[in-house]
Parts: sequence; C-alpha cells; structure tokens
Amino acid sequence: MTHAPRIFSGIQPSGGLTLGNYLGALKRFAEKQGQVETVFCLVDLHAITVWQDPERLRQQTREAAAAFLASGIDPAQSVLFVQSHVPAHTELGWMLSCVARVGWMNRMTQFKDKAGKNAEAVSLGLYAYPALMAADILAYKATHVPVGEDQKQHVELTRDIAAKFNHDYGVDFFPLPEPVIEGAATRVMSLRDGSKKMSKSDPSDASRINLTDDADTIAQKIRKARTDADPLPGSMAGLKDRPEARNLVNIHAALTGETPDAVCARFEGQGFGAFKPALAEVAVGVLSPITARMNALMADPAEIDRILLAGAERAHAIAAPIVADAREIMGMIRGAR
Ligand code: AMP
Ligand code: TRP
Repeated sequence: MTHAPRIFSGIQPSGGLTLGNYLGALKRFAEKQGQVETVFCLVDLHAITVWQDPERLRQQTREAAAAFLASGIDPAQSVLFVQSHVPAHTELGWMLSCVARVGWMNRMTQFKDKAGKNAEAVSLGLYAYPALMAADILAYKATHVPVGEDQKQHVELTRDIAAKFNHDYGVDFFPLPEPVIEGAATRVMSLRDGSKKMSKSDPSDASRINLTDDADTIAQKIRKARTDADPLPGSMAGLKDRPEARNLVNIHAALTGETPDAVCARFEGQGFGAFKPALAEVAVGVLSPITARMNALMADPAEIDRILLAGAERAHAIAAPIVADAREIMGMIRGAR
C-alpha cells in the first residue's frame, strides 16, 4: 500500500534550543511547509526521561514553541502541539513497546551514551524512549522524519517496529518512515570540541549558541570558538583532519544556503582572524530576527498556549482513529475512538 506523504518531527523541551536545533531541525522544518502535510511536536514526555524541574519544563516548552513559530512554522500550515496533550502517543507507545524487542533497545547508542556507567540507575522511561518515539511517528502514519544525524538510529528502529507490527498481524498498516537527513548542518558540533555535538545539555555555555543569545554573545562565542592556526583551503577535502574548522565552515554554509565548498573557495588562503568575524556577521544576521520574534512571542504566553491547544486538537483528530485501528488489529474490543 502506498501511504500519503506526511512529515512528522519532534524536539525535546529539555533546555533552551541551540543553533544545532535551528540548522539541523527548525530551519529545515520550515522549508518543508506547504510542500506536504507537516506535524511538529514538543515532546515533553521524552524530556521527563531525565529529571526536569516542573516549572522550568513549562517555561522551556513555551520557549521551544516560540522558537518554532519564530523560525517560520506557521500554525495554519503545520500542526504544532505538545506531546502530553495528545494521549495517542502514550497509548500507542505502550502497544509498540510490546512489539519492540529488548535486544533492539540494547543497541541504541543514545541510551548507552546517556546512561554511561549508570545504566542500572537511569529511569525505565529512558530505556523505553525509542518505543515512544516510534509511537510519535506512527500515530500519524508519517512517511518522512526530518532529523539531525543523531536521530537516524531511532528512526531506523521505528521502521523495524512498524515492519514487525505489519508482519506479526498480517497487515499493511504502518508505513516504514524514512529519516530525512540533508544539508550542511545535520550535525553541528560544539564550539569548544569538534568531536562532540552542540547540545543544550552541555555544561559549557560557550560550547553552543542559544537561540536566546544576543548579538554580542553570539559574536563573542564565535570569536572564542576553538580552531587551528592554518588558513582555509579551497575546498572541504582540505579540512578532513580539522574538525573544528570543518564545523565552522558547515555552519556558515547552512546559514547562507551555500555549499561548504563554495564557502571554502571564497575564503581560500585566509585564516580564522578573517573568517570568524564574517561568520559572526552571518550568524547574527540570521539569528537576531528570530530571537526578537521569540522574545515578542514569549511576552504573551497565553497566546502560545492557545496556539498549542488548537494544534493538539488537530493532532488528536489525526492520531486517535489511527490508534483505534491499531488497537483493533491487536485484538482489543472496539471502544471509544
Ligand atoms: P533534541 O534537542 O535532542 O530534542 O533534538 C531535536 C532535533 O534537533 C533532532 O532532529 C536533532 O537531530 C536535532 N539536533 C539536535 N542537536 C543537533 C546538532 N548539534 N546538530 C544538528 N542537529 C541537531
Ligand atoms: N528523540 C528526538 C531527539 O531527542 C526527539 C523526538 C521524539 C523525535 N520523538 C520524535 C524526533 C519523533 C523525530 C520524530 O532529538
């Protein structure tokens, strides 16, 4: 069966969003709008897999919603909502955790990274998280999932879960969703360490650019970003062993929409003394209007809540009948839809 194309993606409101989230996710989400049906979710139930201060979680959820809206997500064109407002996610999450295998979960590298040596002490939710993520996607029968590189394994697991469900129950019910990982910034790295991804949970604030940073802070963080003393080569091939330099070129390219090779060609022979101020100017030019729009939206939290509640109604209208069908396929007596 061919499934109608539908895009789904989610972001955890577990801290302030970063330039990595903007380039790897938000900017690309906004570009997809209008081409196909788009559904975007603030996944607060994923955020609580690790400790969240309740008041801060509420604040961060509204701030993440403001970041979506400020990045060009239009609630008239896209469905934008909060995961915990739509019960289909937790319900299908349980059903799919009975389809997924423990052995599959054990292969998830994000779990291994997050749990570290502490695997016995982390929450059961952190372990089961990929089954909930599969439910997020499959409750909408989404066909395409734009994400950063770090989420590829989870989307592939979602395909495995969907295929096993279809196979076990002899149906062609769930589509096998494709991860969509494209562009120069599918993995934006830390400004302090070119081997670590830029993350809202990194203890060093200098490692990331936050969407709430002002122009001076952005320029200062770029100026202090770790680099090397060599000039830039004429193409990306010359940056093979220079991860920090490669990262800054990729960020520049993603911000201006050029290819990384074109950026290299333009700065060939110049050092970071010239490149960093140019990058800062581009970053401030793109991010400042977004930050300003976020601040304006955050001044009216009731309006954000109104947009999110309207989004949840639309999300529920799509997901509830799909989950009701899944229940029936699994052998539950038909109940309320
Ligand atoms: P998270 O903040 O972990 O909920 O991630 C939300 C989305 O942003 C996912 O699609 C991630 O893959 C993407 N993302 C997060 N950090 C980065 C990064 N440093 N570079 C590129 N994409 C990222
Ligand atoms: N796990 C994703 C992350 O940490 C967030 C997420 C939850 C997601 N559910 C999703 C992404 C569904 C895409 C589709 O970044």
